Amino acid sequence: MCSGKGAPGISTTLSGKSGISDKVALLTLAARILSQRRTRVPGIVLRVEGRPHAGRVALITGGGRGIGAATARLLAREGAAVAVAARTEEEISSVAREIEAGGNTAIPVLLDVTDEDSVSAAFEKARAGLGPVDILINNAGTPGVPLPVARTELSDWRRVFDANVTGAFLCAREAMPHMVSGDWGRIVNVSSAAARHPMAGMAAYGASKAALDQLTRVLALEGEPHNVAVTGVYPGVVDTRMQEKSRAFPPDLIGKQLYRMFQGYSDFGMLRAPEEPAELISYLCTSEAARLNGHIIRLEQLEALKE
Ligand SMILES: NC(=O)c1ccc[n+]([C@@H]2O[C@H](COP(=O)([O-])OP(=O)(O)OC[C@H]3O[C@@H](n4cnc5c(N)ncnc54)[C@H](OP(=O)(O)O)[C@@H]3O)[C@@H](O)[C@H]2O)c1
Repeated sequence: MCSGKGAPGISTTLSGKSGISDKVALLTLAARILSQRRTRVPGIVLRVEGRPHAGRVALITGGGRGIGAATARLLAREGAAVAVAARTEEEISSVAREIEAGGNTAIPVLLDVTDEDSVSAAFEKARAGLGPVDILINNAGTPGVPLPVARTELSDWRRVFDANVTGAFLCAREAMPHMVSGDWGRIVNVSSAAARHPMAGMAAYGASKAALDQLTRVLALEGEPHNVAVTGVYPGVVDTRMQEKSRAFPPDLIGKQLYRMFQGYSDFGMLRAPEEPAELISYLCTSEAARLNGHIIRLEQLEALKE
């Protein structure tokens, strides 16, 4: 298993002497290349022909829109019976109806990932309607209000951690026993590059996604003896309600820098379709992807490898 962890904290500012700082710079470069090698996924083929998820039951949190909805549609097309789970009933019902209309199997499941009872009830509903869950996509998430730490309300901090980390923990805790006893399972945690790249104003979001990544690695270790693979995905900047909401924050609330960044994603055509991360997520749920366990995969890395 590969941890997918980056280079250790080697700094170029250790010494003012040019000879030593050159060596440090070289070491830094070498460490970067090595870390890229470790996190790369050579020879990955994103498509597995046919219906690779036939006979599987998948539960997708945040399945009502955005990346979650695209993932639910794709998993269903590729053979899984899917539980489309989130808090907004009309969104999950609409996605499930659309899947059924296409001749595949789906049910809407009301779920608030921050609520332990709601998580248990959702898994029970999925079990009763489709069978025990063998594929879990922990996709539900929120960025919170992007403010500096000094202006962040404790309630907002907790809301972000509850949705992005505790929710994934609660869902994984529900899913693992069946996966372990059935000796097969897949969990994909939808994370963010914000876990590794600090951005002023994004402490709660970045720290929560970093915590999610560590949950991914630990679950991967726990699942490995039982053929349960657990991976993380950095989906890139995706054209969803989350980005729409981020663009709507006024500059006098979140500061000009973040405001420009969010506008720029759209103005410079950097937003990708939700179907792109969905393809990677679906691939990670196949048996063919078994060697990927504990990996945190950036979509951009795969694009580079596909060239
Ligand atoms: N879009 C991007 O650029 C981007 C970049 C990096 C990472 N991500 C990650 O991708 C994931 C999906 O985001 P998205 O961009 O598709 O955003 P989105 O369109 O806003 O979708 C978020 C989904 O999460 C659900 N959700 C939020 N809180 C929930 C809760 N407490 N319980 C159950 N469901 C909840 C929402 O449904 P309800 O509100 O109906 O519950 C919705 O279905 C998130 O984890 C996000 O952090 C997105």
